[in-house]
Amino acid sequence: MNQAAIHKTLAGKPGSKPTSGKLGLLFEKRRAANFTLIQDLFFSLYPEARHTASFESLQKILADHFQNRSAELKLQDLKRQGEGNWYQSGAWAGMQLYVDRFCGDLNKLKDKLPYFEALGINFLHLMPITKRPAGPNDGGYAVNSYSEIDPAYGTDQDFISLTAAFREKGICLMLDFVVNHTSDEFPWALEAKAGNPKYQEYYYTFPDRNLPDLFEQSLPEVFPETSPGNFTYCPQMGRWVMTVFNTYQWDLNYTNPAVFLSMLENLLDLSNKGVDVIRFDALAFLWKKIGTNSQNLPEAHRLIALFRLCLQVVAPGVIILAEAIVAPEEIVRYFGQDILKGNECEIAYNAIFMACLWNSVATKKTRLLRQSLGNLPPKPDTCTWINYIRCHDDIGLGFDDSHISALGWDPHTHRRFLLDYFCQRLEWSPAKGAVFMYNPFTGDGRITGSTASLLGLERAIEEKDASKISKAVRKILMLYGIILAAPGIPLIYAGDEIGMLNDYSYMNEADKVMDSRWINRPIHDWRTVSRLSSEKNHASGIYYGLQHLIALRKQQPGLADTRSIRYHDAGNDHLFVFERDGESDNGILILANFDDSPQVVRTSLLGALGYLREGQFQNLIDGKTKKVRSGLLEISPGELLWLRKC
Ligand code: GLC
Repeated sequence: MNQAAIHKTLAGKPGSKPTSGKLGLLFEKRRAANFTLIQDLFFSLYPEARHTASFESLQKILADHFQNRSAELKLQDLKRQGEGNWYQSGAWAGMQLYVDRFCGDLNKLKDKLPYFEALGINFLHLMPITKRPAGPNDGGYAVNSYSEIDPAYGTDQDFISLTAAFREKGICLMLDFVVNHTSDEFPWALEAKAGNPKYQEYYYTFPDRNLPDLFEQSLPEVFPETSPGNFTYCPQMGRWVMTVFNTYQWDLNYTNPAVFLSMLENLLDLSNKGVDVIRFDALAFLWKKIGTNSQNLPEAHRLIALFRLCLQVVAPGVIILAEAIVAPEEIVRYFGQDILKGNECEIAYNAIFMACLWNSVATKKTRLLRQSLGNLPPKPDTCTWINYIRCHDDIGLGFDDSHISALGWDPHTHRRFLLDYFCQRLEWSPAKGAVFMYNPFTGDGRITGSTASLLGLERAIEEKDASKISKAVRKILMLYGIILAAPGIPLIYAGDEIGMLNDYSYMNEADKVMDSRWINRPIHDWRTVSRLSSEKNHASGIYYGLQHLIALRKQQPGLADTRSIRYHDAGNDHLFVFERDGESDNGILILANFDDSPQVVRTSLLGALGYLREGQFQNLIDGKTKKVRSGLLEISPGELLWLRKC
């Protein structure tokens, strides 16, 4: 039993209606449940001999923030605990968006609630909305404040009222907690620059290059093109500061307990504003150690578990998403292991799923996808995935080399092929993407571009080729139909629902031109939205197709994350075949053809699994029952089937 399970027991009978009478001793009970673990974790990072006073402060922070949490949110915490692992339900359908680019500001976003409702979206990830530097700010991931809303987005009050509106509509809100770094304009950084030694210790600052050079020997580069190296000289301070991401993003020094305590306060403040899911940004980087790559270190895991267990005392209804775009076996560690199993993050990005989907698009083969997912280390059954096709970041090619070699491909050449395929270096490829952060020394590069442009829609429109346009539309729906049937929360990238293409305007903006990820951060096209119901074109095809798939997903109990998944070898490498909840009558068999030609699957496989009876099968997507006339079922290029068990 992990801490979450203990808290559920403390919350009382599942499903019982929470009342304010139940709020009484909650804090004491929750603190008691987590105390030993919190204490052990804290003193393992900050030795007891020197840090008892800090531990006292931690307890006061928890008590104060519980006190400040509104009765409404406290009741919601209780309700969620009664609902079990609410985030594993199949009823969620998510969207990620930049408020400014989507509609302008927080108030206007409130006006867009009907848009989300119509599409079936009930989970929103809003990209950073707090104050940031006026110049380059990494899309808000360089923070000047963890709590003050940037005036460009609205006021604190606007935000509170937005969260209330979300609650009323049953929309789950996810916000970032940029836990690894602040901007170089953050108050602590300004103090450090002004020579205040206390705040210089909030970051990793050094008087000379000795320690930075030692770190550099084993630190990789995140942004090699724009921000080579991991340290930046700050002339004002006369010291070097660690900047693993951009030069203006200063890495926080978590070996200093004051940093942990201040960041804990920031986390709890955010939770008390009515955020439901907190995305721990770049959390793999939280602890640094000379001689290592300073990613995924055991201390980072302990730190995250410490944040989690503290958050659980104050706001157990709030959960954490791990933004760890690392190797799959490392990602699952963010769910917590051993005594911390289920005590770290409840959700993680299924990055390997995303990358393998793109690999299948380019190669038209699905074995790597099937094998990578099949080999994914098991996650605790209280945790879930975010499944996505595109997000605001690049597509990294983080496949396991041994899986690529096992398919008879040379890993280096294969990655090179993928970059060429997606980034306009192959004449015949329909994809129109861009390279992100090519590193000439290692030959590594990542890919960026909108879903539609990467799947050929942009080129097809340029060529005015109707058949290529519909092929791209089919592929978009096929990829989304796959993640909508997978275990976890599907996250649609705003704009994808109407097939938005690459946005090249970033090339004319000085603070963005060096970051090709902006190609896929478009200004939402409301003109196209306004014509969806009256015009029949690629945008309406995608929109209504997605709307239908989302609604269908919500009707299928077999698609909740609590239900099983099995990958099947269809004997045809072009087909991706998996089954959800196959043991029950709710079973669904998903088949997708990644090839440009029709492909076949043996009907005996469908029969053996229970999806063919008397030569007939039923496809949930078009609602039709069809008869097969041979021992082979043909699946057209880009076609997706969700077969119902019969
Ligand atoms: C995360 C964000 C990314 C940002 C980086 C640094 O990876 O997703 O957009 O650049 O963190 O904050």
